[in-house]
Amino acid sequence: MSDIRNIVIVGGGTMGNGIAHVAAQSGFATTLVDIRQDLLDKAKTIIDKNLGRMVAKEKITAEQHSDTMARLSFSSDLAGAAAHADLVVEAVNENLDLKNRIFQTLDASAPAHAILASNTSSISITKIANATKRPEQVVGMHFFNPVPMMRLVEIVRGYKTTDAVSESIRDLSVKMGKEPVLVNDYPGFVSNRVLMPMINEAIYCVYEGVATPEAVDQVMKLGMAHPMGPLRLADFIGLDVCLAILNVLYEGFKDPKYRPCPLLVRMVDAGVLGDKTGRGFYAS
Ligand code: CAA
Repeated sequence: MSDIRNIVIVGGGTMGNGIAHVAAQSGFATTLVDIRQDLLDKAKTIIDKNLGRMVAKEKITAEQHSDTMARLSFSSDLAGAAAHADLVVEAVNENLDLKNRIFQTLDASAPAHAILASNTSSISITKIANATKRPEQVVGMHFFNPVPMMRLVEIVRGYKTTDAVSESIRDLSVKMGKEPVLVNDYPGFVSNRVLMPMINEAIYCVYEGVATPEAVDQVMKLGMAHPMGPLRLADFIGLDVCLAILNVLYEGFKDPKYRPCPLLVRMVDAGVLGDKTGRGFYAS
């Protein structure tokens, strides 16, 4: 597997701009791609602001800030950017049809040696890989929000992903200052198979009147040393995202233990999605 130098990130939302930040800060020529220019502009502003905060806290120098920005470019041309990529990390919405279309374009445009990774938190890597003619070179590279802060990269091996590809992504994650953990491609991988049932159970506690959201979160923060309680975390992740992942677990295992709490379904139906809509279990 050849060296990874040029990294293309697809999707200018929260995860995409966090991954672009970390890739560029780690010395890689990084291109962030989105069809929406407003998202690219916003991503550039956020990355610049986050790097500026790191300079103010003396975690990086002003020169590292400007060098990182210089390694970053922004584009709305997916095929053109992919043509120069050694690695593409897709971080668009959790929609299989959209991901399949993007992976088909990437497969047609990226060099033969390029690895195609997805930051998906719930969609099967094996299914995404099957949309391409290079399923051995498709892998999950699952980052956590906020990407510059969270140390984990969950590397997800699809059915056909080769050892060489997962090793290459493992080495790259270390170069990006992260701690990679290798898992296989089953619903929810490890992270969300463990996290989402906890969040769901916390929602059941509210639904059944066991405790208020504040009390549930205090229990987990004070008793279990979680940095955020599960309901505050659900708001941070997005209640629609939590529901989508629970549905993947429920349908993937056909096991009622993953049944989403009716209160979660009702909140999502009402458009109460957490921080992104200004209201979830908490007002933000
Ligand atoms: N981008 C970059 N840096 C950020 C940030 C952001 N959006 N938000 C906070 N930070 C940084 C701050 O600058 C600060 O940096 P320093 O330590 O260098 O000063 C640090 O994070 C701590 O921030 P605060 O003091 O403001 O707040 P905090 O101590 O409460 O920490 C937190 C905030 C890091 C988000 C912490 O609450 C935490 O770790 N929460 C849990 C987050 C978590 O579980 N994320 C995973 C979600 S699941 C997921 O992403 C994947 C999925 O598949 C669903």
